[in-house]
Amino acid sequence: MDPVFKRLKGFNDLVGEESAIFSRMEAAARKVFARYDYEEIRTPILEVTELFRRSIGLETDVVGKEMFTFNDKKERSVTLRPEATAGVLRACIESGFLKDGKVNRFYTIGPMFRYERPQKGRLRQFHQINCECLGTDSPYADAELICMAWEFLNILEIDDLKLKINSLGCHECRPNYVNVLKEYLNKSDNDNLCIDCKIRKDKNPLRLLDCKEHGCKEILINAPIIIENLCDVCARHLEQVLSIISTQNIPYTIDNRLVRGLDYYTRTTFEIVSDGIGAQTAVAGGGRYDGLIAQLGGGDISGLGFACGMERLALLMKRNTLTTPDFYIITLTQNERFKAFEIMQFLRKSGFSGEMNYENGSLKSLMRRAAKISAKLILIYGPEEAKKEEIIVKNMESGEQKIAGLKQIGEVTGALLGY
Ligand code: HAM
Repeated sequence: MDPVFKRLKGFNDLVGEESAIFSRMEAAARKVFARYDYEEIRTPILEVTELFRRSIGLETDVVGKEMFTFNDKKERSVTLRPEATAGVLRACIESGFLKDGKVNRFYTIGPMFRYERPQKGRLRQFHQINCECLGTDSPYADAELICMAWEFLNILEIDDLKLKINSLGCHECRPNYVNVLKEYLNKSDNDNLCIDCKIRKDKNPLRLLDCKEHGCKEILINAPIIIENLCDVCARHLEQVLSIISTQNIPYTIDNRLVRGLDYYTRTTFEIVSDGIGAQTAVAGGGRYDGLIAQLGGGDISGLGFACGMERLALLMKRNTLTTPDFYIITLTQNERFKAFEIMQFLRKSGFSGEMNYENGSLKSLMRRAAKISAKLILIYGPEEAKKEEIIVKNMESGEQKIAGLKQIGEVTGALLGY
């Protein structure tokens, strides 16, 4: 039967193993982030549109093309968050967290929305695990963040990840680089630039550096390199970040083309990539954004962060996360169900997982149901067993079977499960 309602394009349901993988990811994130003194923050999914326009930048694809924006009932423009950083900073500024001069570390986990063309690893509603470290411009903070991201991904046992790193300079040295780049582009034959880059060339020339179109890549082969145009302070910052992460055995490559798709970055930018998910290679991305908090009205406070795309991580994780119930209790008539319910609750309270049948069925069909949910044990409590105040306990894998008095049910269940 065709369903009456279907999910929207680019919006996924997370059920079964997919949902279990997400839970495992979240648990790993909470475990690792706690060791780095990160605390959880949850911010609204809907924010005023201007917040994203002002932070992410008007010339970015996210703001220009991809936001789910609409007017509310009072004709105010609001947007489903396309990323978490802007909302987290807005919340910190609004609640005055950032005034006490200490370093604040926050993580948030949840759905983001971008109106992109859906494909493998690219959705319109996707989920991010996002971290922000606020209140320090030390290169140790950049290195610490990268170490934490790396450690998190390692716990998930994802192989073949690569760290790419770059520096975008600061408000002092970047404008000089942009001029040098513009001069280069003005001297190039730009006919083969893609339509987007023809527009970006004047408005946001840095973005040409990471365009994936063949024609654009060719034109930029000999483009000037940003880290060769950094001021002394930014060059020293990058050098220190690299030397600190080297002590932590994190292999990296410098990627001169890594400019990132959001306009707020300064100095360090990084991405962790995998070849395992087709064209959507970045599983995590982030960097430093000194100046952004001031731009949002929060004072001269430095910050940096990163986010992982959970759907992309899920594509790379091993699928061994499904847990199966310990038991399935089979009752054959309504008469045994009352006592069987008590037994089930006793087992659950003793730490075993499982369920029982509430509707009548033949022993054969109920055995099939137990097999379908892969219950490790079947407990049969029929009229005969009820009369004798005992229950049959059978291990489905080994075939081993015991008859337990109702008082020994916990013990026998544990023994047959090998606990
Ligand atoms: P971003 O690079 O735009 O950065 O996104 C981070 C990650 O989210 C990407 O590497 C990717 O794994 C995932 N992602 C992005 N778009 C999609 C999509 N349409 N479908 C599936 N996954 C997607 C940010 O969002 C920054 N706010 C990160 C950050 C935090 N920078 C500083 N603090």
